[in-house]
Amino acid sequence: MKEIIRVELKSKKADPAAVETDLLVVGYFSGSKGLDRTGRELDRRLGGAISRVIELGDFKGKSGDSAIFYGEGRVAARRVLLVGLGEKTKAGPDTFRQAAALAANKAVELKARTVALVLHAAPGGRFDAATLAQVIAEGTYYGSYRYDEYVTDNDDGRLSTLEVELIDSDLQRLRKLKAPLARGTIIGRAQSYARTIANRPGNVINPPALAQEAKKLAAGTPGLTCTVLDEKQMKQKGMGGVLAVGGGSSRPPRFIVVRYVSKHAGARKLPRVALVGKAITFDSGGISIKPAANMDQMKLDKSGGLAVLATMKAVAELKLPIEVYGIIPSAENMPGPASFRPGDIITTYSGKTVEIQNTDAEGRMILCDGIEYAVKQGCDVIIDIATLTGACMVALGKYMAGLMSNDEALARQLKKAAEMSAEKLWQLPCGEQYAEEMKSKIADLKNIGSKWGGACTAAAFLRQFAGEKKWAHIDMAGMDVFEKPKESVSAGASGYGVRLLTTYLVNLANKKD
Ligand code: BES
Ligand code: ZN
Ligand code: ZN
Repeated sequence: MKEIIRVELKSKKADPAAVETDLLVVGYFSGSKGLDRTGRELDRRLGGAISRVIELGDFKGKSGDSAIFYGEGRVAARRVLLVGLGEKTKAGPDTFRQAAALAANKAVELKARTVALVLHAAPGGRFDAATLAQVIAEGTYYGSYRYDEYVTDNDDGRLSTLEVELIDSDLQRLRKLKAPLARGTIIGRAQSYARTIANRPGNVINPPALAQEAKKLAAGTPGLTCTVLDEKQMKQKGMGGVLAVGGGSSRPPRFIVVRYVSKHAGARKLPRVALVGKAITFDSGGISIKPAANMDQMKLDKSGGLAVLATMKAVAELKLPIEVYGIIPSAENMPGPASFRPGDIITTYSGKTVEIQNTDAEGRMILCDGIEYAVKQGCDVIIDIATLTGACMVALGKYMAGLMSNDEALARQLKKAAEMSAEKLWQLPCGEQYAEEMKSKIADLKNIGSKWGGACTAAAFLRQFAGEKKWAHIDMAGMDVFEKPKESVSAGASGYGVRLLTTYLVNLANKKD
């Protein structure tokens, strides 16, 4: 098996023209009057090659644009990569995250061993240097990531490591970048971790294997503890939702709880937060089986769970002064002799009964037990995240996830984190009318609503399990995967939610609204 690419990110005092590297990366805003100081110096040494390409119009500097120049001994770098940053007035932190991702993606493609980044210099002090360093680190991990551990031939010759340096000739400035680079590295690595486990197929990651993975993560991460309930323990507790969904599979369900408590949590009087992530290791639909086309993508139905698990890793490594429960109910939704079936009435962990009308609406059946567990642990804030409904994809496309909540302040905090992390959210309703549709004549609830508003009725179902607790729901269906590679990122699991949830918790720990 091939190792997932290892990326080392450091900062170094160096002059761009004199740095020895396989790839020197410089940013450029479209519509700029000319090159900045670094660009001018490189251009002069390269005999005007950069300005000629810009004058010819071959490189416009739009985001996603890039151009390569060869050092040929005139600069110490083997290659210079000019990366488009788009219009300067429209630039934000994500411009630099994306530019770093594009550069890192190209670096892997070019089989560069070393990369030197001067992207942070481009805006000339218009952005907070620490923010830039953090997002550039995040982008570096994002763009260099590849999922190819089962590709046994190495014809493409991908290198196993990539060394990236953020360079600056000003030592004073460089020192200030160290801590945010380390933060970005923690978040970037956590996101890559989520992508790797999510990308692994259903025959490799089943619920017990995911539980093993969570245990391994907790054992290797100071501050994390992991408890796993097996099917017997779930039966004792009455977790009917998870057990019903997991019934059809020969791989039994697991209820995974990863906990992080900082020593400083109590003194800070911050809320106890629960993150609840849907981890269906494969969703065939069960007895209400899905059509064959693209069913392979349903290995990614565990992505919400992985967003939670990876966020727990990041939170522990960042040593945030808070208390968080990562709750990950996991099952494989399969047809089989012991499957739950349409018509069944399930008693969930909360005691509420649910009439099953479609076994493909399984996510809510495991999440409701996860939410109830959070309530029983006395969590003040409960956030669930799930690839829950095709209807959410129909509503929002693949650009943003749906957000539903019973608390406007919590929704606002999540929207702020979405803005900062560029993992976007769009708020949708989940009130009375939607809840009305989820009432059953023969049980307390049923598991599907009418033909319309499927994302909202699913959220209205979950809302009822949170009771009076502050609750938010993130429907990330469609956000879990890039079907095709992009300029800045390879195809496969996206790791969506890791930056979003981590940013929310960082802000909470900083008591920022
Ligand atoms: N995991 C799916 C939702 C999904 C669909 C995620 C496409 C990512 C891409 C979920 O379990 C599901 O099957 N939902 C049904 C619900 C319906 C039966 C009410 C759906 O959306 O069709
Ligand atoms: Zn389903
Ligand atoms: Zn599903």
